[in-house]
Amino acid sequence: MSVIAVVGAQWGDEGKGRVVDYLAEDAELVIRYGGGNNAGHTVVNPHGHFKLHLIPSGIFHPGTRNLLGNGVVINPPALVAELDGLRGAGFDGDNLFISDRAHLVMPYHVLLDQLEERERGAGKLGTTSRGIGPAYVDKVARRGLRVIDLVEPETFRARLAAALPRIRRVVAGYPGAADEMADEIDAATDEARIADAYLAAGTRLARHVVDGQGLVDESLERGERILLEGQLGTMRDLDWGIYPYVTSSSPIPGGASLGAGLPAVAIDQVLGVAKAYTTAVGAGPLPTELEDADGELLRDRGQEYGTSTGRARRCGWYDAVAVRFSVRLAGYSSIALTKVDVLDAFDRILVARAYRDPADGREWTTVPASTSVYERLEPVYEELPGWQADTTACRTWAELPAAARAYVERLEELASVPISHVSVGPERAQMIVR
Ligand code: GDP
Ligand code: IMO
Ligand code: MG
Repeated sequence: MSVIAVVGAQWGDEGKGRVVDYLAEDAELVIRYGGGNNAGHTVVNPHGHFKLHLIPSGIFHPGTRNLLGNGVVINPPALVAELDGLRGAGFDGDNLFISDRAHLVMPYHVLLDQLEERERGAGKLGTTSRGIGPAYVDKVARRGLRVIDLVEPETFRARLAAALPRIRRVVAGYPGAADEMADEIDAATDEARIADAYLAAGTRLARHVVDGQGLVDESLERGERILLEGQLGTMRDLDWGIYPYVTSSSPIPGGASLGAGLPAVAIDQVLGVAKAYTTAVGAGPLPTELEDADGELLRDRGQEYGTSTGRARRCGWYDAVAVRFSVRLAGYSSIALTKVDVLDAFDRILVARAYRDPADGREWTTVPASTSVYERLEPVYEELPGWQADTTACRTWAELPAAARAYVERLEELASVPISHVSVGPERAQMIVR
């Protein structure tokens, strides 16, 4: 039996989808355990180029079952649209399963996400506007609607009717929005319209809905290989990320056990996914961010534009402090280092091994709780030589240029964890296993 959690070690977009698609060839079950359609997992494989938001990245292997775990928040019409897109590409989605305990993202969650961001003004978090935060708020407040309600129309209607008066009161508390967003507000609080759209989506999704824990339990009993697919990364974890610039779920392995529905001790390995440099979408501190030609070159070569929102990703050098922080929280067995090929063009590469506080000269080797302290910390860099050679055709560790191997080995030292996989391109064949 082996259960491997695949977890983002940075700010998200490390290449988790790519790694899961690659590993899923040998897995019977892939489970998304948190987040919702804020995720954008791009998978490039022999079938094409796919952008997944909710659907787990094992979907392209017909013999692999894919479960949306109880910890995920699901926008049913968005899921139906994603399934339709896959169907258009020749995948019937018969290997998709949805936990009956997963919570729903409602139209008013999307609206509230937008209203809250508007009110934050200059302090906005830069969310994906997919309603993720408000959906988790309702889950914790014990007034959420779940997948199981979607297949019990009477329960769905009753819970929706119970929720809307409160939502209308909350929305009325944003008077500035009443005129500008009148149409969105009407649509997101229209009981009949929501019920029609959601129950129609529920009818479409009903054949995929299962007792998620039962499915996982059977799979464990049979000794199958299971992958737990993370969303986002440690630095956006609700508890451990750069609060408040975080998401509303737990990308780290603690969240995997809870959100997939299996015992924590069943997780045999945790594979951290880290990019060979740093990117982030959304606001908050990013100590190694580059607003110069190097940053542009990273964005350009790495095609660093958000999969979900199209926003240009903020780019910078590799931050070994952030990854080490993630190592301590996630307990990686090893790390998959992606996008090494993006660095092919650089004559020298910087790595932040620590931060320094200009206020008092203190050196930091962990991530501070205080966002205002973190904002002012400056990276302490070490410089490594670039290799200025094309790595995209390398298929073995030995084929990589010596300077590229030295770079990987230095990151390995700084993380105190072996780097087991080195990715030199988005395709399955471009994964070097050491
Ligand atoms: P995720 O959210 O962690 O799944 O990552 P994303 O899919 O949002 O972003 C990673 C992007 O990098 C995707 O477009 C991948 O196709 C691409 N990618 C993954 N690994 C590599 C690699 O080794 N080299 C290059 N050039 N692109 C990669
Ligand atoms: P994957 O799974 C990168 C960021 C948003 C914002 C913060 C909170 O592809 O790595 P949310 O909409 O979750 O309330 O936004 O998190 N964010 C992501 N950044 N990749 C993602 O997913 C993200 N999902 C959310 O930009 O800063
Ligand atoms: Mg992504």
